Amino acid sequence: MPKVRKAVIPAAGLGTRFLPATKALAKEMLPIVDKPTIQFIVEEALKSGIEDILVVTGKSKRSIEDHFDSNFELEYNLKEKGKHDLLKLVDETTGIGLHFIRQSHPRGLGDAVLQAKAFVGNEPFVVMLGDDLMEDKTPLTKQLIEDYDKTHASTIAVMKVPHEEVSSYGVIAPQGRGLNGLYSVENFVEKPKPEEAPSDLAIIGRYLLTPEIFDILDKQAPGAGNEIQLTDAIDTLNKTQRVFAREFTGKRFDVGDKFGYMKTSIEYGLNHPQIKDNLKQYIIDLGKKLDKTHKEK
Ligand code: UTP
Repeated sequence: MPKVRKAVIPAAGLGTRFLPATKALAKEMLPIVDKPTIQFIVEEALKSGIEDILVVTGKSKRSIEDHFDSNFELEYNLKEKGKHDLLKLVDETTGIGLHFIRQSHPRGLGDAVLQAKAFVGNEPFVVMLGDDLMEDKTPLTKQLIEDYDKTHASTIAVMKVPHEEVSSYGVIAPQGRGLNGLYSVENFVEKPKPEEAPSDLAIIGRYLLTPEIFDILDKQAPGAGNEIQLTDAIDTLNKTQRVFAREFTGKRFDVGDKFGYMKTSIEYGLNHPQIKDNLKQYIIDLGKKLDKTHKEK
């Protein structure tokens, strides 16, 4: 059985939930303290043993390509000034096996993944959404690869979400739990109404897929929101070969949402060696102030 070596990071969405910041800036470049979101995703891929990464970019995504390229002028300047710590940080993002392709129109996540057909070839691969951060002892992508090594089947990461939020996600109709705690799945449904949702297990931003998904995506008609939905293609794949779901029990940060972004920045800031003490004190003082104002009302 082929090894999982390749990852696709779709980063060509319009990011309408984050306007106006995303008018000219890719949301995947929004920094969490001092690191662009997409760099965390690339690091998760590398920690999971991925060797080759394709980033699907769209309009105003040049900054992503530039971020992972060398910047001679900046590096020269930092060297001249003896700023070796900063130089090390800048160096971290160069020399990674990254490739880029453009999605000409943001027709949906399924269409973004379809752009990776030639890059992936006939191998299993992972899809890692460029605006979803996952924290766990073992990276989620690595968990999915370990599942694949045992089952040789596609596996989609899911997580319990509040019932009223299911309509923002793809949702699974689980059939039962078997091998390694994986769910067998009856159906995958994109953005169901809460009253029609088959469960509260929502598809989150990590997928391990077999290459047969591409033939399905090639023919996939637009679905919810008039977009080519990856969930619909996965549902079709599940009719001809097993597709499992793994429930993620770590922490997920939705950076593409304004409130999600704020929470991510605060939590990562509380772990950042340079700012964590000051930030903690700031939050404590702010809490006291808010408490006082609340009591005075
Ligand atoms: P989202 O639905 O979160 O992205 O897609 P979006 O459409 O940019 O966001 P909003 O809802 O308008 O704020 C999940 C991921 O899929 C990528 C996005 O960049 C994001 O990382 N995507 C989505 C594409 O690459 N192409 C698309 O056509 C749609």
